[in-house]
Amino acid sequence: MIETAQFEIKKTDKSRISEVDFSNIPFGKVYADHMFVADFKNGEWQNMRIEPYADLSISPANATLHYGQSIFEGLKAYKNKEGEILIFRPEANAKRMIVSAERMCIPPVSEEFFMSALSELLKLDSAWVPNEPNTSLYIRPVVFADDPYVGIRPSETYKFLIFTAPVGAYYSEPVNVKIETKYTRAVAGGVGYAKTAGNYAASLYPALQAQKEGYHQLIWTDGQTHEFIEEAGTMNLLFYINDTLVTAPTGDSILDGITRDSVLTLARDWGMKVEEKRLSVKELEEALKKGEVKEAFGAGTAATIAKIHKIGYNGTDYVLPEEKPLADKLFATLDKIKLGEIEDTHGWVYKV
Ligand code: COI
Repeated sequence: MIETAQFEIKKTDKSRISEVDFSNIPFGKVYADHMFVADFKNGEWQNMRIEPYADLSISPANATLHYGQSIFEGLKAYKNKEGEILIFRPEANAKRMIVSAERMCIPPVSEEFFMSALSELLKLDSAWVPNEPNTSLYIRPVVFADDPYVGIRPSETYKFLIFTAPVGAYYSEPVNVKIETKYTRAVAGGVGYAKTAGNYAASLYPALQAQKEGYHQLIWTDGQTHEFIEEAGTMNLLFYINDTLVTAPTGDSILDGITRDSVLTLARDWGMKVEEKRLSVKELEEALKKGEVKEAFGAGTAATIAKIHKIGYNGTDYVLPEEKPLADKLFATLDKIKLGEIEDTHGWVYKV
């Protein structure tokens, strides 16, 4: 275990918590009182501290600003009836951040270090974990290059931060998505599987075009042929076709979503037919035409289970049935597991 005694803790003089309306929290705009910070220099993580949440000062030549050498994670904490803080699958996020770090030439944050930093921060800001229905404390760990150097090479210095935000729903209504066959989010051999800044930047322009047509998000297709369904950028995608739950297999162009994995695990527990397969746009289109797509939904930490209302492809909108019993059951079950209200048979919940 990392010696948390070596974390220097500087508490805020004045908590901002009384300014927050916990019954009406927008996603990602309100931040808790403290943040964890560590610096990587001379080949090691050091100067580990918790300090008041505040702006950072960086060089105009900061390598991340120019070249995007940064990675992040997203996870959530909940408060159970006893007031204890429960984090959903944090070890999985820690492991995924190591995978992202390797691809982006960033020094890894060990699972042990990640967990210690997270626990200490949440102990200090436990009052910020909301307990209204459909709320949580969203946790954003991020590691970014910190060299003030405009040449191209992996940075020699980095910052690791964890800050948190009480949040409500990411999508407030079922989403409309469009199958994208012109622009590309990720390619084989690229960085699509890494949770890195550029993946999100690259998706902004195509998503904006779709938003002008009334869609919330895109269904990305593979970069080579645009014939196979991948993910939505903000979430993985699942389709309940006839009696089978279908999703794209993870690989180098798809994020290995933790909510995705949780959904597949529950569906298998329930004896459902689950297929992780390359679903072609053609197959999906035919199933949509025949009314065989009973439900479609996204799965992500921020998005949770985001029901899909309609899917646009080639100028046609396919509206899905309003009733989505599977999505509802998955959402409710995950919610109960996260809140410690039903047995956590997979060891997903970490108590701070
Ligand atoms: C998350 O689900 O945690 C993400 O990082 C996705 C982002 C759209 C907020």
